[in-house]
Amino acid sequence: MLGDGGGPGCMARLLGFRRPMTQNSNVNAERTLRVGVVGVGVMGSNHARVFAGLPGVELVGVADPDKKQTDFVARTLGCAALGTVEELLDLGVDAITVAAPTHLHRDVALACIARGVHVLVEKPIASTVEEGNEIIDAAREAGVTLMIGHVERFNPAVEAIKEAVRNEDILSIAITRVGPFPPRMSNVGVVIDLAVHDIDLIRYFTDSDIVEVQPQLSSAVAEREDIALLQFRTASGVLAHINTNWLTPFKARQVTVATRGKYVMGDLLTRQVTECFGFQPDGSYSMRHLSVGHAEPLRSELLAFLSAVRTGAAPAVTGEQGVTSLRIAIQCLTDRPPAVAPAKHKAPRVVAG
Ligand SMILES: NC(=O)c1ccc[n+]([C@@H]2O[C@H](COP(=O)([O-])OP(=O)(O)OC[C@H]3O[C@@H](n4cnc5c(N)ncnc54)[C@H](O)[C@@H]3O)[C@@H](O)[C@H]2O)c1
Repeated sequence: MLGDGGGPGCMARLLGFRRPMTQNSNVNAERTLRVGVVGVGVMGSNHARVFAGLPGVELVGVADPDKKQTDFVARTLGCAALGTVEELLDLGVDAITVAAPTHLHRDVALACIARGVHVLVEKPIASTVEEGNEIIDAAREAGVTLMIGHVERFNPAVEAIKEAVRNEDILSIAITRVGPFPPRMSNVGVVIDLAVHDIDLIRYFTDSDIVEVQPQLSSAVAEREDIALLQFRTASGVLAHINTNWLTPFKARQVTVATRGKYVMGDLLTRQVTECFGFQPDGSYSMRHLSVGHAEPLRSELLAFLSAVRTGAAPAVTGEQGVTSLRIAIQCLTDRPPAVAPAKHKAPRVVAG
């Protein structure tokens, strides 16, 4: 649902006020930041909604070739509706979310960076590692902030798990991210679309790089892989497992982390996080629910992005981290036995005994 906001002066600015074509990437701490969103489908319309409600921020406009959707979002939020990124840049913006389909991230991000505009690029950073690196290099040269939208980092349940395992000796991590097929199929499978979130989380929880990948993929219904069981080993020796698919009738996002001293269980949807600790030789242990915040992850993500824009500090999720997670996801697609359809059991299975 789109909320309201955006400011009544939007049309006046459209008609009158114009900034120079090349933006100054230095923004001071007090000035209202002028922001925009490119691609206002499922994810981008949420970025626009959240931007419109943030203090010290003005949603200048949204750009998308789908005129009906762009007009709807712009009308709801009270900002300009544009057809292209260039038209949005011409209005004068400090920062932009790139939420167009992934194969367009590189071109859209480079267009923004060339005009000195800070960019938050939705995950995954790009379609290929090379394209991701192009975005990183361009942002570095232009001196603009580049952050990647790995929004799960800002899920309060993830923050609680991270806090629970900080200073613990992590042994293994298991993540389940399953659900039904998305309403609109893009040209990527579950590994690039879903598992990339969890590859990022494994690296985040362990503060370590993934050095071994053992993927098992299958295409049960879709052309691309729609089931993936992925195993990893990190440089720090942690074993990790991702179970993801589009063949589950309901959404589930669960994380368990085993450490030498604790067993932490988190539900990223209900945001319930529980830890077992105080293991005794007789098998007994203690258990407690951890306190978890209520903030909307996307709001926290956008606040973190804008804080990095204002201060010039490194963003919470860097382009390099985005590329590393993408590289591991692509490795899952390339370092694997050929995908096969699951075997069909023609006759009922007989259980012996
Ligand atoms: N962080 C997350 O949890 C999360 C969730 C969903 C999607 N995403 C990412 O967000 C991006 C968009 O995914 P989505 O699900 O919102 O897709 P979507 O298909 O719902 O929306 C994409 C929008 O981009 C528009 N578009 C197409 N060409 C464009 C162009 N040249 N310029 C501007 N806009 C253009 C389309 O018209 C559409 O409205 C993808 O990169 C996806 O991986 C991230």
